[in-house]
Parts: sequence; structure tokens; C-alpha cells
Amino acid sequence: MKIYIDTPENIAKMAAKRYVDLLAEKPDAVLGFATGSTPLGLYGELAQLCADGKVSFKNVTSFNLDEYVGLDGTHDQSYRYFMNENLFSKIDIDIANTNVPSGLDTSAETAAAYDKAIEAAGGIEIQLLGIGNNGHIGFNEPETPFGSITHLVELTDSTRQANKRFFNSIEEVPTHAVTMGIKTVMNAKSVILMAIGSAKADIIKATIQGDVTESVPASVLQLHPNVEVYLDFEAAAAL
Ligand code: F6R
Repeated sequence: MKIYIDTPENIAKMAAKRYVDLLAEKPDAVLGFATGSTPLGLYGELAQLCADGKVSFKNVTSFNLDEYVGLDGTHDQSYRYFMNENLFSKIDIDIANTNVPSGLDTSAETAAAYDKAIEAAGGIEIQLLGIGNNGHIGFNEPETPFGSITHLVELTDSTRQANKRFFNSIEEVPTHAVTMGIKTVMNAKSVILMAIGSAKADIIKATIQGDVTESVPASVLQLHPNVEVYLDFEAAAAL
């Protein structure tokens, strides 16, 4: 595990460079994207680099980590909408090659087909991750089996509380989501984990320096051979 600690602006630039380098070598790479506040700086960088002709996503296929159940892609809090707004509309990716789990079809077959589609596309080169205050990656909440593939989950109260800032009230926050599993994430050839802000400091310490345990889903990354962690000074403060 390589750990980089800098300002939020600099870690966004450093992570963006990984995409520029990868796509120079492999223009048709498969990328795994995340939503949430954390990747916004990186997505801004990628949009700028693309506008400047320094990187192209024309031949990229993407798979997002997760989606809320009950929200379709036109809902402004759906993760499909988030990706269209914050990244896909700002880069030259072919929208037909972007994949976000369905929040409307939650059958186990459709979920499992997501893993198969990733595999059929050649596997994810870089899976981008944020981290929840409780250590979730994707929406894999504590005690999710490390062997899990894409599946339907019930969100914990802590996650719903953390995400209510994007909704009018807690009642509006979906209770369930479809997420790539821990195994799906671990199958990626490399992982970039990003964390920003003091609220993430304790869980980052547990993730990197604590035991590998299903109680801290992100701790599984200690077992992955190719992980880069990008932290701002606040998120790194407890290390
Ligand atoms: C998003 C996702 C979540 C977030 C995490 C952190 O697709 O899967 O695991 O990465 O909840 O969210 P932010 O970045 O908003 O702190």
C-alpha cells in the first residue's frame, strides 16, 4: 500500500496523473468510479485535462460502485445523475460505455450480471474508492463478507445520516442500495482510495494500521497487492 499525503488540491492532481499515465498506455482501459464529495476534485482535474487534450476517455468503459434503490437516473440524487453531471458530461467518454448499477432492478441475477459484465470487459484497471465514516467502501457496510459480489444492501443509520445532507429530510434518503461487493472491488487490478477531512481520520487509521476485519470493510485493502491511498493532511492526522 502506497500512501500519499498532501492538500486536497494536490492529491486530486496526483491521482489524476495516474489516469493520464494509464490511458496513455491503455486508451481502452476499464475504470471503476465512485460518487460522493471526495472524488469531486479529481473529477474536476480529469475534466480539465481532457479539455486541454492531455487525456482522452473516448475508448474507456466505466463501472460505478453503487446506486440507491428506488431512484432512476433522472433523479438528482441518483448516482447515475451525479456521474453524468460531475464527470461524464465533462469528458469525451461515450455515455453508452458507462455503467452504473440499476437502482430499479434489484434482482440477485441482475446484480451478479454486473460482476460478469466487468469481467467480460476485461476487468477494472483502477477502482476509485472513497470511504464512509464507518469504513464502508461502495455501500459495503461493516460485517459485509469479504467474498461478496454485487448485491442489494440495507444502508446503516450512520450512512443514511451522513448522506442526508444531499436530501431534504432523512425520510427521503433511500434505505437500500445496490453495490459492487468487496470481492468485486478486490478483483480490480489496482485501487485508489481517497479521503479528505478530519471526520475520516480515525477510520483511515483503522483501515491502514488496524486489523483486517469485516468490521472495517476498507481494511480488506491491506490484502490487495496494488493500492494507493491519497489523503489530505486532516484525514491523515491519526496515522
Ligand atoms: C460512493 C460510495 C461511498 C462513498 C463514501 C464517502 O460511490 O460508494 O462509499 O465513497 O460514502 O463519501 P464522501 O466522499 O461523500 O465522504
